[in-house]
Amino acid sequence: MGRLWTGLTFFLIGLLALPVVAYLYFLLGNPPVATSDRPFPFEAQVVRVPLGARIKREAPATVPLAVTPEVLAAGATVYRDQCASCHGLQGHPSEFAKTMFPGAPQLWVKHKNSAVVGVSDDPAGETYWKVKNGIRLTGMPAYQSLLSEDQMWQVAILLANADKELPAGVVETVSRPFGN
Ligand code: HEC
Repeated sequence: MGRLWTGLTFFLIGLLALPVVAYLYFLLGNPPVATSDRPFPFEAQVVRVPLGARIKREAPATVPLAVTPEVLAAGATVYRDQCASCHGLQGHPSEFAKTMFPGAPQLWVKHKNSAVVGVSDDPAGETYWKVKNGIRLTGMPAYQSLLSEDQMWQVAILLANADKELPAGVVETVSRPFGN
C-alpha cells in the first residue's frame, strides 16, 4: 500500500511539474523563433496532415471556368501582381523565398525527374482552396478578401497548366523580370 502511495505522489508531482518545465523551456530554452532555426519536433506534420484532410473535404471538384487563352492571361496578371514576389517568375526565382520558414516553393520550376512544373500535378480545385484560405503557420496568405472568385480560379487554372505550352503573352507576363 505504502509503495502505491509513493508511486502516486511522484506521478502527481511529475504531472504538476510538466507545465513548469514547458514554461521554463519557452522562457530560458532556445525554442526556434528565427526562420533559419531548426523546426520544432513534428512541426511539419502538425500543419500538413490536417491541411491535407481539410483540402480533401473542401476543395471543389468541379472547375467553374474553361481553360481559354483569356482565362490563362487573366491568371498570369494575378500571378505577377500577387504571387510572383514569393513564388518566383519563370527563370527568375524569388530571392527571399528560401529565407522564409517554411520556404515558398517556386511555382515555375520543373521538378527533377518528372514533367511536373510547380504544382501542375495538383488539381485546380486544390490550388484554389490554398489561394482562397491561405496556409496557417506559413507565409502563404489568404486571398478571399483580396481577389474575386474568378481571379482565384484563373490563377489556380494557370498553375494547373504550368507544364503545358502556354500562349506567348502568358509566358511573357510570368517571365518578364520586375522593374522591366
Ligand atoms: C508572402 C509570400 C507568399 C505569397 C505572396 C503567396 N504565397 Fe503561396 N505560399 C507561400 C509559402 C511560404 C508557401 C508554402 C506553404 C507550405 O509549406 O505549406 C506557399 C504555398 C503555396 C502553394 C502550395 C504549394 C505546394 O507545393 O503545395 C500554392 C499552390 C500557392 N502557395 C499559391 C500561391 C498563389 C497562387 C499566390 C498568389 C495569388 C500565392 N501563393 C502568394 C508564400 C506566398
